[in-house]
Amino acid sequence: MLGTSERQALLNAGRESIQAVHKSDYGHDLLLGLSRLPRSVAPKYFYDSTGSALFDRICELPEYYPARTEFNILRSNASQIVEQMGAHVNIIEFGAGSLAKIRVLLDAFSPDMAPDRFIPIDISVQHLEDSAQSLRRAYPCLEVLPIPADYMKSEQLAYVEEMRGRKVGFFPGSSIGNFTPHETVAFLRRAQKMLAGGGLLVGVDLIKDGQILHHAYNDSAGITAAFNLNLLVRANAELGADFDLGRFEHRAFYNEPMQRMEMHLVSLRRQTVRVAGHDFRFDEGETIHTENSYKFTVEGFQDIATAAGFRPGPVWVDDACLFSVHWLESPHNTLVPR
Ligand code: AVJ
Repeated sequence: MLGTSERQALLNAGRESIQAVHKSDYGHDLLLGLSRLPRSVAPKYFYDSTGSALFDRICELPEYYPARTEFNILRSNASQIVEQMGAHVNIIEFGAGSLAKIRVLLDAFSPDMAPDRFIPIDISVQHLEDSAQSLRRAYPCLEVLPIPADYMKSEQLAYVEEMRGRKVGFFPGSSIGNFTPHETVAFLRRAQKMLAGGGLLVGVDLIKDGQILHHAYNDSAGITAAFNLNLLVRANAELGADFDLGRFEHRAFYNEPMQRMEMHLVSLRRQTVRVAGHDFRFDEGETIHTENSYKFTVEGFQDIATAAGFRPGPVWVDDACLFSVHWLESPHNTLVPR
């Protein structure tokens, strides 16, 4: 169990980050993002409680293969995976969401090897707290310490960095695909240091047929569209913006040269939108770029991980080569050039 001061430090870190995330960040970042051309908003703002619930529904869609495929890969290879993780570890999940996937792994540990502690880090505070509660009920012996934070912000993770014991990271869902190539290396370098002596289990979506990709982000039920448009719903509700939801449309396409899916919100006509006292003029067809979702080859991703100081271990892939799950060893005392 954690000492009192360690626990208090974690709670304080969480409280600070709740304020940081909820009071000012979206307003600040949206104004900045709308002032730049091309206009953009960071995808982390999808995940308010409505957006997190919509994302959970996306994961159930027949077209959205990543969630289902990764789940099956984890289930089919769970005993090998937990063997890599080791006994009595601390598991840190980045961008934890609804905490469904970790259960597959927890169930695969034999009781004498079970993890000591599970630390899910997520930006969506309420969603995280609810999921943590239900996980505690299902695994009464596991210490569950949710941290409401942005896992890209180093100050918020200092306490995890200083934590003792073997640490293994879990970063499923190909959330890593949201990063720019530069951010991917920065994240992996930090994770490598944080997890030194342990490792990282990371889900990575693979480059594939463009039609499969297209349908995964243009589902027939329109859930992905609602997820994308929720950014504007949020802006209206939280920031007093006056986006007319009938005048913006969801657009998603595969940018093949960049090896990424892109999501945008397209202005359907010339219009002016007011956000927190500022006017933004949109031409017809002008877009707000809301998400990149990079796709990789297995070898390409291993090269990036190696550059960040990891030693690539086993990789598990489904039969149709849609998705990959990588085990990356984090050596002690590596010297990675900055
Ligand atoms: C959570 C970032 C992995 O990129 O596929 C789902 C988010 N966007 N549908 C992805 C998302 C549209 C998802 N990630």
